[in-house]
Amino acid sequence: MKKIFSGVQPSGIPTIGNYVGALKQFVDLQDDHDAIYCIMNQHAITVPQDPESLRENTRRLAALYLALGVDPHQSTIFVQGDVAAHAKAGWLVQCLIPLGELERMTQFKDKSAKKQSVMSGLLTYPTLMVADIILYHADLVPVGDDQKQHMELTRNFVDRFNKRFASKDQPILTKPEHLTPKSGGRIMSLQDPSQKMSKSDDNQKAFISLLDEPKKAAKKIKSAVTDSSGVISYDPEEKPGVSNLLDIYSAFSNRSIDDLVSEYEGSGYGAFKGDLAEVMADFLSPMQARYYDLLESDELEDILREGAKKAEVIANQTLAEMEDAMGLRY
Ligand code: TYM
Repeated sequence: MKKIFSGVQPSGIPTIGNYVGALKQFVDLQDDHDAIYCIMNQHAITVPQDPESLRENTRRLAALYLALGVDPHQSTIFVQGDVAAHAKAGWLVQCLIPLGELERMTQFKDKSAKKQSVMSGLLTYPTLMVADIILYHADLVPVGDDQKQHMELTRNFVDRFNKRFASKDQPILTKPEHLTPKSGGRIMSLQDPSQKMSKSDDNQKAFISLLDEPKKAAKKIKSAVTDSSGVISYDPEEKPGVSNLLDIYSAFSNRSIDDLVSEYEGSGYGAFKGDLAEVMADFLSPMQARYYDLLESDELEDILREGAKKAEVIANQTLAEMEDAMGLRY
């Protein structure tokens, strides 16, 4: 079975963008892959976090993974900071990646733009992500489109590391591929469809959180920016608002965009949005009920502890091989 590794930062409650780009894939892939899903709390602290909120959001994200359908009997779920090998391998990667490659990362440029002061962790963030992935010999990494550049960095790193420290017929690290969904790899803001949907958007109407009550989600869908043509067709360039809603509808209904476009031929935006709101409610209501139950139970800590134990065995083995190859063991 191919190995999967991925994760989400507990920097707030994930949006439907995080779900469509990444979390939905976590659930869909776990049946026929060897999957490890992590909660990236060390990545979250590259920007300021209130300690109490970070603690809360870490538990909440774990509960959300489970409520969405990640099955702890099938997949390993753990918190990044519980496995020390991540930070250790992150340091090794940091010492082997040129500064220029990190300065070129568009996410760093976006996140540091207009900030008076930026911590160095924001720049070296991708080196920790490389470490996360290589420690588990991941073949596939399900992520949204915005992570493609980080994945390219990972692939280049693996090539360079193996070339320098391993023999040709026995590579130490595995070169991963990223997996982005066919449509919806980049869900856009509901208020400005030229921008990516983000949980940190100041405008609450721009995103739907996975914990928004269905009524609230419906309101946000109804107020989503479209255009004046009144025609439902898929054209992200000319009709970014409607195309974004089609991406969302397709992900939540598991129906193809073509199928939806032909169903809504001749209908107005009102009916289309109303149906999407219903599909969304059918998804959110039972999932949120499971979530609130899980949050109350002690199950969560046990699952995370077990997950960290399993992850640690794999991660420590890879780290030891890397350290050995680099001459750090004597
Ligand atoms: P994060 O926490 O920002 O986002 C989690 C996942 O959600 C995807 N995503 C989106 N997909 C579609 N449309 C959107 N609007 C949207 N917004 C976010 C992201 O692409 C991501 O897959 N660097 C990662 C976390 C990470 C990681 C890793 C992922 C750290 N180490 C190792 C994979 C493997 C991040 O910031 O995700």
